[in-house]
Amino acid sequence: MYTKAEQRFIRVNLISIILTLMVILAGGIVRSTGSGMGCPDWPKCFDQYIPPTHVSQLPPDYQEKFVAKRLQKNERFANFLESVGRVELADALRHDKSIAEPEPFNAAKTWTEYVNRLCGVALGISLIFTAIYSAVYRKKAPRLFILSILNIFFVGYQGWLGSIVVSTNLTQWVITVHMLLAVLILGVVIYTYHYAKYLNTPDTVIMYKVSWLKWFLFFTLAVNIFQIVMGTEVREEIDMIAKELAYNFKNTWVAKLGENFLYHRDLAIFLSVCCVIVYKMVVDRFNGKAAPLRFAKTMIYILMVQVLSGVVLSYLSLPPVAQVIHLLFSMILFGIQYYLFLLVYRAQTYAAKNI
Ligand code: HEM
Repeated sequence: MYTKAEQRFIRVNLISIILTLMVILAGGIVRSTGSGMGCPDWPKCFDQYIPPTHVSQLPPDYQEKFVAKRLQKNERFANFLESVGRVELADALRHDKSIAEPEPFNAAKTWTEYVNRLCGVALGISLIFTAIYSAVYRKKAPRLFILSILNIFFVGYQGWLGSIVVSTNLTQWVITVHMLLAVLILGVVIYTYHYAKYLNTPDTVIMYKVSWLKWFLFFTLAVNIFQIVMGTEVREEIDMIAKELAYNFKNTWVAKLGENFLYHRDLAIFLSVCCVIVYKMVVDRFNGKAAPLRFAKTMIYILMVQVLSGVVLSYLSLPPVAQVIHLLFSMILFGIQYYLFLLVYRAQTYAAKNI
């Protein structure tokens, strides 16, 4: 059904999907363990390709040296912000004293951040191969070629933004853009995977009307993306509260959250209802071993984990494991839902075709 070159593309594309999720997982671990500054410079770590394991491997003045580098980098970013009209933000960045505080060496944090970077490099390499192998579709399905190349740029930009998130301590829009870009990158690899997989297969024909399901699934997907943005806003607030309280009194952080948190919680209920309706609609329209059925079921399981981890975060003072699960599963939920949408999108109603 597929040529060897097509099989190769589909395989490496799947690896890219898995690596994207691994990078998100690693990013979550970095954030929940506070390891972002584990490597004070970028792309090298403590000026080395393989970071040290003990402070004795570093020069005595390493703290001052890396703070100076960080300040230099932030000055460049502040200039950039000014040039795009974000003068207030640039000013806040220049006057943020926490940026100039030196971080003492901590091997666990350094290696956590280093592994995170290795995952990023692995994803970059995998996406380059995805783009190279997509050349086989240049004539047959040019969108696969174009999207695969674009994704390399998205990931490059994402890597740069990630380094800005860490070095500026910015808790504003940068984190939201970072998250939306992660959604976009994951969305592109899922799209190209699905498109290549079903390129030579005729559309699924079913006996029932499917247009409502398509629309409703699209709506649910939009609600989910909005919920991810809301969650990111909540997370930004948590970061700010934590900073204000010098990372003490963790059991009071959630209680200090504003109305964004309430919207996020209520929207979770709405999203859950939407997902259950989607599930019911899929069950009513597909049967046997149809792929949409499997994905709809998985979506419900993932949703349960997502809601449960949210409840644990809120009532058990943000345990780091729940933070990581909540972030990773929000992306898996998006991925599963989007794939389900693509599957349903290529289903046609039998009766409609014969009218
Ligand atoms: C059902 C769908 C849900 C989705 C898609 C979702 C998504 C997200 C996302 C993407 C974040 C940002 C994570 C990060 O940047 O590390 C977040 C944060 C958060 N969410 Fe949710 N969430 C959902 C449900 C819930 C529920 C039901 C609750 C609580 C009752 C909740 C409570 C929180 C809290 C407290 C945070 C801040 C966590 C932190 O700072 O580490 N979420 N959510």
